[in-house]
Amino acid sequence: MSQDASTAPLRAEEVRANFSLDPAIKYFNNASCSPPPLAVIDAMSDYYRSTPLNYRSGVTQLESRITDRVDAIRANLAAFLNAKSPAEIVFTKNTSEAVNIVANGLNWKPGDEVIITPLEHQSNLLPWIRLESTAGVSVKYVKPAGSDGLIDPADVARLITSRTRLISMHHVSNMLGCIQDIEAVCAVAHKHGVLVMVDAAQSEGRIEVDVQKLGCDFVVSCGRKALLGPQGIGFLWGREELLSQLNPLLVGGQSTDLIDEHTYALKALPFRHESGIINTAGVIGLGAALDFADTLGRNRVSHRIQELANYFLNGLSGIRKVRHFGARPGNYPQTGIISFVVDGMSAQTVSERLYKDDGIVTAGGVHGSPLAAKFLGVEGVTRLSVHCFNTEDELGSALRSIERLAV
Ligand SMILES: Cc1ncc(COP(=O)(O)O)c(C=O)c1O
Repeated sequence: MSQDASTAPLRAEEVRANFSLDPAIKYFNNASCSPPPLAVIDAMSDYYRSTPLNYRSGVTQLESRITDRVDAIRANLAAFLNAKSPAEIVFTKNTSEAVNIVANGLNWKPGDEVIITPLEHQSNLLPWIRLESTAGVSVKYVKPAGSDGLIDPADVARLITSRTRLISMHHVSNMLGCIQDIEAVCAVAHKHGVLVMVDAAQSEGRIEVDVQKLGCDFVVSCGRKALLGPQGIGFLWGREELLSQLNPLLVGGQSTDLIDEHTYALKALPFRHESGIINTAGVIGLGAALDFADTLGRNRVSHRIQELANYFLNGLSGIRKVRHFGARPGNYPQTGIISFVVDGMSAQTVSERLYKDDGIVTAGGVHGSPLAAKFLGVEGVTRLSVHCFNTEDELGSALRSIERLAV
């Protein structure tokens, strides 16, 4: 992973010039999707304006240029994750597809067990729950040790049996913003020969995701959140020997060679998991987003997000009738995903009012994680999620707006 060019603190003015943000709103819904920087929009627009050819299709020099470009982005993403080889990167349309490739690709035996947590997004619940009826797999839940959402690796160890095949869990919670100790979970799991899949949909772009340091077996994520890439592109990283054992979710053009009327052969990795023409423009946008992160400096982005989160949390703690869920400022690094409730108001109403009254964009509800809401004992939360283009001024407006609601 490359080092940041500068360690100077990242300032909002430096960042904002790179975005086309609607001045009428203050955007704090980055855990759902982020506005891509102009560099991403331009890269995709240039692709469509010039010659929008397909990846790995056609033989002319023109088509080869696109193929070389996508291959270079795959290599860049591999380096970003500290993967051993670009062959370990499979482009998908989103995180959900990546989870499904793994869930449906492993050879399950009835009685096999999968461990997940109640804090998962449903995209990392449903593919495993479905295996209960389709493959006789048992799903077990490891509960967070406390209300800050942290999973104790010792609790994971206690759930592991000789039938446990895989643990699938988030790196950063989409509701509580807490960072799980994946390294410790992997150490426990691997002692028993159990695979670990990490849902990095909320950690990519917020904190470092180094697959060697984490020690996991699979990582799934998408481009449109904190990575600041476009919609419709995601990826699966997996250790080469594991990816090659997965039965592909689909067969079709690009992934498979038709040998004769009744026979086919899967192509090499990673192509065997990419059936049909991939989202070439999406990959190009993702590539531009990775370059943008490098230009700003990834550590600087993480620090700026923490600075903004701590600023907001300090203000929030002074507002009566507001309950915040997750780690307090100073406890450990903030990831900029902050959930709270205002007593006597539904989370949806709070979000609607913040937008209607002051153009403040948050999200209200269960955020695709109904079991997390159940764990917290709430019907929903208002989630405010920052990115490095946000400012203290904007957060000050959000705090004043929340204060007016919470009288
Ligand atoms: C932690 C987490 N996992 C998975 C998903 C699903 O992502 P996608 O829509 O890219 O499939 C989300 C989406 O919000 C998420 O926050």
